Amino acid sequence: MSGGAEVRLDHVTKSFEDGRVRALEDVSFTIAAGEYVALTGPSGCGKSTLLNLIGALDFADSGTVSVDDISLAALRRPWEYRAKTVGFVFQLHNLLATLTAIENVQIPMIGQQSPPHIRQQRALELLTEVGLAERALAVPATLSGGERHRVAIARALANEPRLLLADEPTGALDAETADEVLDVLEAVRVRHGTTILLVTNDEEVAECADRILRLRNGVIRAVEPRRASAASPATPGSSPR
Ligand SMILES: Nc1ncnc2c1ncn2[C@@H]1O[C@H](COP(=O)(O)OP(=O)(O)OP(=O)(O)O)[C@@H](O)[C@H]1O
Ligand SMILES: [Mg+2]
Repeated sequence: MSGGAEVRLDHVTKSFEDGRVRALEDVSFTIAAGEYVALTGPSGCGKSTLLNLIGALDFADSGTVSVDDISLAALRRPWEYRAKTVGFVFQLHNLLATLTAIENVQIPMIGQQSPPHIRQQRALELLTEVGLAERALAVPATLSGGERHRVAIARALANEPRLLLADEPTGALDAETADEVLDVLEAVRVRHGTTILLVTNDEEVAECADRILRLRNGVIRAVEPRRASAASPATPGSSPR
């Protein structure tokens, strides 16, 4: 992998239902390349909406979302950005029930030129990385919650993304299993320099990150550094209310 991507939001606004639901209001911050940032806030405050904008699964009404200084709204082929730069771990892990773990991990590789045995080998390496090589042939129904989330992380890493967006990957897990998933994310960051944005409502989980962004009613309320080694501080553009 070629290190992490830098993410920058400038005065981003997003609403739904013809403006009746205001999900994000004037949100500005920067995440440095290789930084690990937790995004917290109450249910409905706009966390998944924010992740969707950064993942180019949706687009802002106004303001800009840039990754490595390229505005996502200006991308001619957003699907290439989604396939090559971003790995997404969804709030619900979204594994395909009829496919085995190793087949699920290969889903993002479908558009690649590489032959099946190379994809298979790469998927096995990824499952090894998340500690699940011995469960490669299991279908999701026979995996534990934490194991499913680890498969989802392996799948998100399939195309060596420079940016990993994880939406509550530990939300449904007990503390011990959540720790396993967090260890995997930390290992990914250390090994590959991947930029990680992790959504969580759990304070303990958030404190694993370099910094915490606190979102409330679509507005960034606070940016808190957590580690001495954290990269340069974020620049919140919206005043707390
Ligand atoms: N496609 C949509 N159409 C209409 N409203 C939406 C849509 N997506 C999100 N919303 C609304 O936007 C707001 C922000 O939603 P979002 O999913 O970003 O919240 P969240 O912080 O991720 O919440 P949770 O912690 O429950 O997952 C909510 O009021 C939600 O109802
Ligand atoms: Mg959400």
